[in-house]
Amino acid sequence: KTGPLVIFTPSGKRGRVDPGTPVLTAARQLGVDLDSVCGGRGICSKCQVTPGVGEFAKHGVTVAPDALSPFNSVEERYDRIRGLKSGRRLGCQAQILKDVVIDVPPESQVHKQVVRKRAEARDIVLDPAIRLQYVEVEEPDMHHPSGDRERLLAALGEATGLAGIKFDHHLLPTLQPVLRQGKWAVTAALHLRPEPTVTALWPGFHEGGIHGLAVDLGSTTIAGHLVDLVTGEVIASSGLMNPQIRFGEDLMSRVSYGMMNPSGADEMTQAVRDGLNRLFDELATEAGIDKATILDSAFVMNPVMHHLFLGLDPYELGQAPFALATGAAQALRAAEIGLDLAPGTRAYVLPLIAGHVGADAAAVALSEQPHKSDDLALVVDVGTNAEIFLGDKSGVMACSSPTGPAFEGAQISSGQRAAPGAIERVEIDPVTKEPRFRVIGSDLWSDEDGFAEAIASTGLTGICGSGIIEAVAEMRMAGIVDASGLIGAADKCGTERSIPDGRTHAYVLWQGDEDSPRILVTNGDIRAIQMAKAALYAGARLLMDKRGVDTVDRVVLAGAFGAHISPKHAMVLGMIPDCPLDKVTSAGNAAGTGARIALLNIGARDEIEAVVHQIEKIETAVEPRFQEHFVNATAMPNAAEPFPHLAS
Ligand code: FES
Repeated sequence: KTGPLVIFTPSGKRGRVDPGTPVLTAARQLGVDLDSVCGGRGICSKCQVTPGVGEFAKHGVTVAPDALSPFNSVEERYDRIRGLKSGRRLGCQAQILKDVVIDVPPESQVHKQVVRKRAEARDIVLDPAIRLQYVEVEEPDMHHPSGDRERLLAALGEATGLAGIKFDHHLLPTLQPVLRQGKWAVTAALHLRPEPTVTALWPGFHEGGIHGLAVDLGSTTIAGHLVDLVTGEVIASSGLMNPQIRFGEDLMSRVSYGMMNPSGADEMTQAVRDGLNRLFDELATEAGIDKATILDSAFVMNPVMHHLFLGLDPYELGQAPFALATGAAQALRAAEIGLDLAPGTRAYVLPLIAGHVGADAAAVALSEQPHKSDDLALVVDVGTNAEIFLGDKSGVMACSSPTGPAFEGAQISSGQRAAPGAIERVEIDPVTKEPRFRVIGSDLWSDEDGFAEAIASTGLTGICGSGIIEAVAEMRMAGIVDASGLIGAADKCGTERSIPDGRTHAYVLWQGDEDSPRILVTNGDIRAIQMAKAALYAGARLLMDKRGVDTVDRVVLAGAFGAHISPKHAMVLGMIPDCPLDKVTSAGNAAGTGARIALLNIGARDEIEAVVHQIEKIETAVEPRFQEHFVNATAMPNAAEPFPHLAS
């Protein structure tokens, strides 16, 4: 070709095109990612570009001011009515006349990179399951009779190049008024999986955006994020207590509630769906969006929550061999599972890994990607159960270990959930054995001036999971507790803070005053932490045995709680295998991140559906070595394993 040379930045793609080729067409020809919802009609403005003028030494071209055609009537009208930023052009209208360098700004790219949050391990490329397409539909003609729906689908097929587009039946009653209201122009939402389907329609060009929900359905709390499917940004986040808690604190008590009450499972299904509907209303109100623009959703949860959410009795999950009704990913309509969203809204439920290892764990794998790791990674999602992955790109194993609720502050004498007023950080002076601590909601330590005022609004109410871990680890380092977990008497451990407590002792972390209770660390508390951490360690160690290794290259702590544990204290307790401290990282709420990835990237759904099949599942309950590891791991840090990095 001899026509003008066009170079697109930032992609660097280049080629010659015929003079007069619109920028959008050139982008398509050269495989440049340039968005278009209206199919080049000068309506959507998604195709905006910035042409360069002057010399582009790097590219070896000089761009004349008239390299692109002047505004045509469509572009002029757009600029007059809606206004184009200075220097911007509509790519579908501006034609290439001479050599030119054209920049595609991020907002005009379809597959833009979503801004990464601090702790996320992978990049998220925006490629949602849903897309908008504006089309103009042929008007009916008595001489060539055909349905409005058929003409709409033909126009959509032509505009998108997609074959076999389906049409949601619920749209049929409104189709004719919508087409006429829009004067034969409509915007359709197409859900692309498993086959392209029209799921929502608006007359004319839809300005209101489209949204999706990423939901982490935990047994204790439900966290939801409302996401803009055009920018990939989270526009509102909220959480609520799982309303099923009234049927049982933990999962097994909910399973037994279902066994003992004929309608028990149904009641729990209804409760969680009601809770989700409240949460969705809250999110839409907070973000100030129309709920009808929420068109897709992705859900992650453990197996019991999964069954209850889908309306399945979790009875079989309460006993060996822990058979799942289904472990496959579910692509459903939100309305089918009682969610009060627009009738065309889809719900994607990530696949489960095994009867004990749920879609929440699959979401952690999707977010942390042990299956793509170059070095050997141990990924632990810490909760009431710990889901543990060990592997690298040559293979990944997973197991679940019953840590119990101690890490969440339950079963601890002064324990509470991580909320304002809870002690979250603890230090104990190894010489004086005096403690200092920090409380959630204030940034002063307890021995700093102004501490009392700093906690006036939160109070001092108890100790949360990360607080108790630090307290026990600090007590161990200060010699107040021995390796077996016994608190010494005052004369033995050298502090009056050790007081008799029944047949054992307790350490007084906070004396209490008229506004706050006394906070003790009892021997029972230490026992509960020993059990929980031993279960976690034994699970990890079992996977290491299976893999034939004694060390791992790095440890990733996931989960809300995992984000708050200090690696040093976790290792002092022997919660995680020995490893250099700087190789222990926190991944934050990786399950929630995984849900968001599945919402924003359609390819990630294929990825996780394939990965769950490749993960080798290890059932801890039937492994004799698990018991042995567990017993050794009740000591702090461990009765059998060396922890060389602790010495340094
Ligand atoms: Fe819609 Fe250019 S493609 S305005």
